[in-house]
Amino acid sequence: MTGNHEPLLQMRDITKTFPGCLAVDNVDFDLRCGEVHVLFGENGAGKTTLVNVLSGVYPADKGDIYISGKKVSLRNAHHAQSLGISAVHQEFSLIPELSIVANLFLGQELGSHGLLDKREMGERAVTFMKNLALSFDVDLNEKIAYLTLAERQIVEIAKAFMRDTRIMILDEPTSALAETEKLSLFKIVARLKEEGKGIIYISHVMDEITGIGDRVTILRDGKKIDVLENREDITEAHLIKSIVGERKREIYPELGTEITNKVLEVNNLSTKSGLKDITFDLRAGEILGIGGLPGSGKSNVGRALFGLDKITEGEIIMSGEKLPKHLTPSDSLKRGLIYSPADKLEGLALCRDIKENQSLPVLLEKFAVRGFIEKAREIEAVREQIEKLDIKPDDMNKELQYLSGGNQQKVIIARGFLKGATIFIFDEVTRGIDVGSKIGFFELINKLAKGGAAIIYISSEIPELLHLCHSVIVMYEFSIFKQEDHKELTREKLAHYLFALEGRALK
Ligand SMILES: Nc1ncnc2c1ncn2[C@@H]1O[C@H](COP(=O)(O)OP(=O)(O)OP(=O)(O)O)[C@@H](O)[C@H]1O
Ligand SMILES: [Mg+2]
Repeated sequence: MTGNHEPLLQMRDITKTFPGCLAVDNVDFDLRCGEVHVLFGENGAGKTTLVNVLSGVYPADKGDIYISGKKVSLRNAHHAQSLGISAVHQEFSLIPELSIVANLFLGQELGSHGLLDKREMGERAVTFMKNLALSFDVDLNEKIAYLTLAERQIVEIAKAFMRDTRIMILDEPTSALAETEKLSLFKIVARLKEEGKGIIYISHVMDEITGIGDRVTILRDGKKIDVLENREDITEAHLIKSIVGERKREIYPELGTEITNKVLEVNNLSTKSGLKDITFDLRAGEILGIGGLPGSGKSNVGRALFGLDKITEGEIIMSGEKLPKHLTPSDSLKRGLIYSPADKLEGLALCRDIKENQSLPVLLEKFAVRGFIEKAREIEAVREQIEKLDIKPDDMNKELQYLSGGNQQKVIIARGFLKGATIFIFDEVTRGIDVGSKIGFFELINKLAKGGAAIIYISSEIPELLHLCHSVIVMYEFSIFKQEDHKELTREKLAHYLFALEGRALK
């Protein structure tokens, strides 16, 4: 069923400012029953702010909201929920110290006479998670703090879907999900549509938008600049153009051809985390892609090289020097290796491995600490990165928590550039990044390599592996399944390798 044009939701003249920032500027937004209405726009365009107003996270400065024609004034998130507005937040709304069950039932606990019925909640949660059909293999009494990013995202989704909903907001709900989970989520979205619910979907992933979007509203600098009313208009070309404008650009830059001396040699590496017998070389000027399904061990390769996963066998030789078996991140950093993890801010914000937190270079703090201003040279360097990466707002004293999701990501990347490293390991570096900035990154990474750096590019994005990398290693069950030169590689081949369907394992 497609939308039946009943205005389920009308937002009128919504304006929201933050100190020094007009985040949403007089925006009108409509949602019909049974439609997926996508919000699209570059990082910092105001997408999350607009839906946060709708989910009662904070009030708008100005503007009206009507649900089924009736004007509502949202007092808080709880009130919005009681009106049938549920949200999967980009910045998860889970409480780390509470269990999964407690988070799922937060605000709608079961019980009587002031006593919580924990057993009943536990049982219902188990049934609910099963019905949701997102693969989730964790004891529901586990605290959120101990979950991986992907697991948290699933709980965040489950939490929103537990409530009786008329309007479902999904703010980049798939950023940490595996392919199969994404498909399950889209099935759930289709079901909601059939039930006549309205869905607001925020994403930077083209395939998702063109696949499930019925309409698209495009925001830029807080303003609504366009609405694509028909499915036929929702094309990748159109979406890209709405962000990068008429500037005609190739998405992927031409690969460099100067691939010179070996800077890294990995021989028969095995780790406590499960990597088995990993062997490959990396040369200056080379961009080496590492692909693999979630759980294939692709991220562990980066972690092991940076000294985060314990090495049990094998050796790593960097610029001719054999690295100590008990490699630590500071060893790697000292030798000019920079690592940008997939878990980005999650890894920093929460109490993970202390070593891991401490060893990550400190641009984050530098961004937030005023004392930094004394160091003119560093300021200059930071300013240059802000410009290069187009970080918004371009105020280096802004605390990171006030930046939009994608811009926070860019700060992490800037950290690596600032360090002037010779080997860069990027893990899922473009996750949550708008398409315009993505093009910018690809250019930067390409330029880094052409300047003689060596790059390990870990990604689950097939197009990026195909077009940005000189050669691609595909991981499967913690081993190298295949390595192939980009000239030999096709989309189909790569997809097959990811599922270990074709070719022979190297070992
Ligand atoms: N709590 C806040 N305090 C101050 N400024 C904020 C706050 N939240 C967002 N902003 C600013 O408002 C603007 C819009 O941010 P928003 O998070 O809505 O962008 P977005 O479109 O969701 O971007 P992204 O694609 O990166 O998630 C940005 O300039 C951001 O820095
Ligand atoms: Mg956002």
